[in-house]
Amino acid sequence: TEESLPTDQEFHHDLVSSLPLEEGMSPVRLRKYQGVWMSEYFLVGTMNAQRYFKARPTDILLASYPKCGTTWLKALAFATMTRIRHSFACHPLHRLNPHECVPLLDEISGSLESLSEIDTASDPRLISTHLPFSLLPESIKGCGCRLIYVCREPKDTLVSRWHYHGKIVTNMGKSEVIPFEKMFDMFCDDIMPSGSIWEHVLGYWNEKTQTPGRVLFLKYEEMLEDPMGALTRLAEFMGCPFTEEELRVGVPAEIVNLCSFGNLRDLAVQQNRRISPGGIMTTESYYRKGAVGDWRNHLSPEMAEKLDQITATKLQGTGLTL
Ligand code: A3P
Repeated sequence: TEESLPTDQEFHHDLVSSLPLEEGMSPVRLRKYQGVWMSEYFLVGTMNAQRYFKARPTDILLASYPKCGTTWLKALAFATMTRIRHSFACHPLHRLNPHECVPLLDEISGSLESLSEIDTASDPRLISTHLPFSLLPESIKGCGCRLIYVCREPKDTLVSRWHYHGKIVTNMGKSEVIPFEKMFDMFCDDIMPSGSIWEHVLGYWNEKTQTPGRVLFLKYEEMLEDPMGALTRLAEFMGCPFTEEELRVGVPAEIVNLCSFGNLRDLAVQQNRRISPGGIMTTESYYRKGAVGDWRNHLSPEMAEKLDQITATKLQGTGLTL
């Protein structure tokens, strides 16, 4: 009932402060919840989502480990799903960051008001999450809704995370940036926001193999190589494939261009204002290089070999490569 909700909130806050704490990634505080290190900021939202979120079979959930291409996937999926409603000349993505177009379940569920807003949103709902599959609300696991997962090569993901962390530090008015070597060790030990990158990707990969047709698996590197191919698969999977007429007038190319790194970054830089999470990040923080292989500028050959070795061991026999 409505009356019981505030009590649940207090219960959540008490529970959060009782969880194991890791401060090595300061100012981001990590807590171990249900076996996974998570950013403390998202924990009440995660608990609320687990408890109250009601998934629908028509939902489309965009899932990713942070820094694997979430922003891009959100832009592409949003532009594809709403293409009948919005003209490319005057598009919401010209004004809004993709994160403002597709809500992050783990964040907005922190407010029960926002959670009830999603509850009343019309079908089909486009929602995103950084939760590992194991922590998803049971209603998502059980309702058969479609999942779109984007993954990325772990070394590049780590490099992207380290730079992003530097922005968090600056934006929060702090000065101490974690040395890259320290974040490398934490990454190898699964002590990162959203936990282990390998467990994360395998959770969704297992769901893909166990439930054919439920998960579309995209790789950041393949999207960069062939954005049109990725967009075509995305539109088909979302149940709104491009029509012959749309192909003839070049709608897919319009979407790819609208959502390209250069275009979105320029729009973000022009606006540069504070957005989520928690009003800490700025619109431009989500765009850095948008390229493959930047790990070469940050990892020693020994570090690269160590990470590659972990990846090979974790993915052995799964049929997945990263
Ligand atoms: P780099 O830091 O390597 O440049 P997320 O969106 O999950 O936070 O991931 C951020 C990464 O995606 C960053 O990688 C960012 O530059 C890149 N990125 C953001 N928008 C992109 C786009 N439209 N196309 C390609 N890469 C994009």
